Amino acid sequence: MNYRNELNDMPSYDGVEKTYRIKVNANESTLSLPPHVEERVLNRLGLLAFNRYPNEEYYSLVEQIARNFSVDPSQVLLGGGSSEIIEKVFHAFGGAGHVVVYPQPSFSMYKIYAKAAEADGVPFDLDAQFNLNVDEFIKKIREVNASLAVVCNPNNPTGNALTPAQVEKIAASIDCAFLLDEAYVEFYGRSAVNLVKRYPNLIVARTFSKAYGMAGARVGYMIAQAEVTRMIKKCFMPYHMNVLTLAAADVVYQMRDEFVPRLQMIIAERKRMDERLKTLPGVEVFPSEANFILIRLEAAQELKDYLETLGIGIRYFSPSAFGLKNCLRISIGTRTENDEVFSAIKSFLEAGQ
Ligand SMILES: Cc1ncc(COP(=O)(O)O)c(C=O)c1O
Repeated sequence: MNYRNELNDMPSYDGVEKTYRIKVNANESTLSLPPHVEERVLNRLGLLAFNRYPNEEYYSLVEQIARNFSVDPSQVLLGGGSSEIIEKVFHAFGGAGHVVVYPQPSFSMYKIYAKAAEADGVPFDLDAQFNLNVDEFIKKIREVNASLAVVCNPNNPTGNALTPAQVEKIAASIDCAFLLDEAYVEFYGRSAVNLVKRYPNLIVARTFSKAYGMAGARVGYMIAQAEVTRMIKKCFMPYHMNVLTLAAADVVYQMRDEFVPRLQMIIAERKRMDERLKTLPGVEVFPSEANFILIRLEAAQELKDYLETLGIGIRYFSPSAFGLKNCLRISIGTRTENDEVFSAIKSFLEAGQ
């Protein structure tokens, strides 16, 4: 079999996961849709014309999103999760001789998308506290003559965030495309979408997977100036979004106010977990603006294994992951789940003393 050359050393994403009683390893929403939203979704699905390509449903959601952000519908593209959006943006600015710069540690897929787009991926190191030196980042982007710079804000897996002024400084100081991945921005509350009208290089990617509890439906979107969306649109297949996802997301977006109490719960729980984890000896807790918290402790792997025996799944990073030695990422669950996770970590540490 004569596969293309790059495929041999391309890492594969292992989607097969164990089942956990408490699943706080993937930054999903721990709750599915609110019951009355779910009911409306199911009613809407009953009215679909399955025989037609999903034009109407695509543009209905695009128009809603455009209206919410006061942009023209031509500035919005939808994708199968923000994953599809990000992959297409890399594709649009990739190719031989093109360079993509992204911080590390950050979302591990940037490296893979750069490779898939046959671009040169250039990681830029965050400091020991995971802060991005904005001036040096800009310098690097210019130095390597990048065609695309990527920032995840708030950053996964570290949880910290750039201020809107820092994001604006990057957008204003570089000539190349600037992809801002706002997968977790609802837990931060400071989106940079409003900067799109001023910066023709800025592309903002968002998702329904985290704040709206729709990871299973696979829906995300991007907002940029119309000329940028016109070009990126060329990378998508016709009718790449299925009608079930589009109709469900259309209802969810109409009812997005229903999710506000959940966001508030996650933010309050994040604060509570942060305070409690900080009381544990030997545990370094990194400040987070997202729906997860990153911690570091000597016995990280042993703790992850111990939690697994209790049916609790958290995210452990391989020792080779840049800057993440002995780090664990814990998504925020319900109050009961968080209490159980915290007690289990506490007992593990006490037993080790
Ligand atoms: C930073 C970041 N961007 C994008 C994604 C992709 O999410 P989705 O494709 O579900 O929108 C994730 C998923 O975990 C993420 O952490």
